[in-house]
Formats: sequence, C-alpha cells, structure tokens
Amino acid sequence: MALDIAKATSHPFRKMPLLFQSVRGTKDILPNDAEILHDIESQARILFSAYGYGEIITPILEERDLFIRSLGKDSEVINKQMFIIERGQDLLALRPEATAGVIRAYLENNFNHIDALSKFYYFGPMFRAERPQKGRLRQFNHLGVEAIGSLNPLLDAEVISLADTILRKIGISGFKIKINTLGCANDKKKFGEKLRILLKSKLSLFCSDCQERFNRNVFRLIDCKNASCRNIIAGLKLKRQDYLCKDCFEHFAAVLENLKNIGIEYEESPQIVRGLDYYTRTVFEITHSSLGAQDALGAGGRYDNLVAELGGAPSGAIGFAFGVERLLLVSKCQSVKVSKKDLVFLITLGKEAEKEGVKLLHNLRQAGIKSDTDYENRSLKGAMRRANDLGAKHVLILGENELKKNMVMLKDMKSGEQREVKIENIVYECQRVIVS
Ligand code: HAM
Repeated sequence: MALDIAKATSHPFRKMPLLFQSVRGTKDILPNDAEILHDIESQARILFSAYGYGEIITPILEERDLFIRSLGKDSEVINKQMFIIERGQDLLALRPEATAGVIRAYLENNFNHIDALSKFYYFGPMFRAERPQKGRLRQFNHLGVEAIGSLNPLLDAEVISLADTILRKIGISGFKIKINTLGCANDKKKFGEKLRILLKSKLSLFCSDCQERFNRNVFRLIDCKNASCRNIIAGLKLKRQDYLCKDCFEHFAAVLENLKNIGIEYEESPQIVRGLDYYTRTVFEITHSSLGAQDALGAGGRYDNLVAELGGAPSGAIGFAFGVERLLLVSKCQSVKVSKKDLVFLITLGKEAEKEGVKLLHNLRQAGIKSDTDYENRSLKGAMRRANDLGAKHVLILGENELKKNMVMLKDMKSGEQREVKIENIVYECQRVIVS
C-alpha cells in the first residue's frame, strides 16, 4: 500500500520516515479520546440497563449472504462497500452494520421462543469501504440497540427517546431528530412504482449518483443532498397520504403522538428514506450541524419483515445505531466534560525511597486509586513539572527524611498545601481527598 509521503516525513520530531501507516480510512483512537469514548460507553450502559436492554456481542465475521439478504443486493453498502473474505468454500464479510447479525443471533439462540420482546444493545467495530472524509471511515464503531417482538408504536417512541436521552446524558446538545415513515412493504412497493413513473422523464436533470440509483433504489433520489435534485423532488409535492395504507398512516400518527407525550422534540422529514432495504414504517436520523457533510450522528427505524426474511416468524422490530467516532467529534467540539478520575503522582527521591515507593504505588492501585510515577529519578522540580503536565491533583513526595519518620508528604496541587501523612494511612488519606 502506498505511503502518504507528507505524513510519513513531516512530523517535526521525526528523524526517520515512517515505514508503516494506518490503513486508509482507519484511525487510531489515542488515550485521551479513548477516555471520552469509554465515558460515553459507560453512560450509555447505565441507560440501556435502565430501559431494560441487555448486551449482545456478535462476531465481526458473518456470512456474506446474511448481509445481502438483510440490507438488499441493490443497496449501496452491499454493492460498493463490503469487505469480503474468501476462505476455501466460505464467503465471509466484515460486518458493515450490526442489525443483521443481531437478528441472526436472536434466531440461532431461540430468543423468539423464549421472550415475547427481546431488547439488545451493542458496541463494536463496523467496516465499510467508503471514500474516507471527515466523519466517514472504513472502520468505525457503532453503539446501538435492537428491540425485537412488537409492532406497538409505543416501542418506537421508547427507542427514539432512548437515543435522545443518551445524547443528553453524554452532554451533546443542538442535535435534531428527523423522522419519517416508509409504510409497510406493500406501501413501499406502490410508492416506488409511483416515483419511477414521476421521475423517469426528469431523470436527465438529476445528478449522476441519482441517475445510477434510479433503478437500484429509487427512494434514494428523495434524500439526495444536491440542491438541484432537491428542487425537483420538492416540486413533486409528495404527500404521505398518497402512498400509506390506513394501518401505516395510523401507526405513524401514534408514534408522533407518543413522542409528544413524553416530550421528545422531533422534525417530520419526508427526505429520510434510509439506504438499507430492511426498513419499513418508522425511520429516523439524528443529525448535528457541526459534523458538516456527514451530519448523521445516528439513525434507525423499524424493520418489521427482517426476522421473517431471515427464517423466523414475522415479528415487529426497531433499533438504531450511533456512529461512535461522530459522537466523539461532536463531544470534542462542544467540550463535553469527561468524568476523569483524579490522578495521584508519586515522587521518590533516592534509592531507598524508590523501593518503598513501589510498594506504596502498588497499594494505591490495589485500592483503585489512579496513581502513577515515572521511574526517571528526576529532581524534585523536574518531577513536579511532570506531575503538572499529567494533570495530577495530588502529589506524594517520599524522600530520605520522610522515609526515616515513616511518613510521606501529601501535596494538593491546586491549593499548594502540603502535610505529612503516615505511610500506613496514605491509601485511606488519598481515598478521602480525591474524587474518583
Ligand atoms: P447507518 O445509518 O448505516 O445505520 O449507520 C448508523 C450510523 O453509523 C450513522 O448515522 C453514522 O453516524 C455512522 N456511520 C455510518 N457509516 C459510517 C462511516 N463510514 N464512518 C463513520 N461513521 C459511520 C445502520 O447501520 C443501521 N444498522 C442502524 C439500525 C439499527 N437500524 C435499525 N437498527
């Protein structure tokens, strides 16, 4: 694979050019970002559990055909973006999304016979060979849920409210929930035929992407971002009533009413059609303007026919997934506060103190106190600078004098106050003064 020459040679500290770089469209998540991600994940876990969802961890590798059958052979993900692995007779794929695998696991593990309603949540990497750009990667992470076993519009409202609550809980504001309905499979078919008739004569006026999508998935012409395509679609004045059956019309009205009841703000948006074939009825996207062109933080909807499509009895189902890297981008933009543990930094001065310090550090860590040292035998001044760079809230200083008295100096970095504490009491004392 070709190296990015500018990246390979340009860093000011780099004396030798890089031999290897990350694969195009993949990204290292470095410790500071990983900490934010874990914070997002732990906040989400608390909420998932409060809403009655249990974690499911499905494999990254699945049979390729699972995705073809679920997402649709004409969808863009299947057509252009799958990472496929051929091993002997097996045709496998790196999962481009998690819904298909969760339904496969739901059927394989007989959840359809155990629970009337099964609710799962997941975190994990997904793979799509897209053209990389800001917020669009080839390996990215999803944080999502699937609720399987009910057609009730109350469940739609629950799932959408869960997505809304997660964002609020992790401190993201300014997002928009855009919602639409596609109707049942029959409605989709009728609407697709109607759209083809309406658009055929105008096709040359659409962008090349739309022209290509016309036969594969005519609905995607509705959500094209190109302004002139949007104008043509707006001119058609499409109305939901024109293509929804009575049941689907009422279902959507009930979803909206339930959302209003629980105070979730949303925007009705006929442009939301989604690119995966399995969707029926309610679909939604959650966007954030700070993301630029790839503005979807997350998306989801109903897929009432997928369980039957994969060999089970028909069961209503709905879910969503957030793009974790996009949550991270917005969190950083909005300086979302991460609940970091306070760091205690240990400075030892002299060989004997260093030996005692190892024990002390071990005891602090055993007690779950975030604590560190750098084993560099710096001067007190240099070590204090290092503690400061690491953002330590407290410093422990153990020199020959302290050691003789069986004491250690505990210094509060903010106030500058310091006092001696008995070595055997230091774990307790640190627990008392720090916020973990
Ligand atoms: P999706 O819209 O394809 O839906 O993906 C969900 C979210 O993943 C997007 O809104 C976006 O934030 C993020 N995402 C998608 N592609 C990329 C990429 N190349 N790079 C970075 N982030 C990306 C699904 O996958 C459905 N399975 C969601 C769902 C669950 N529907 C029902 N249940």
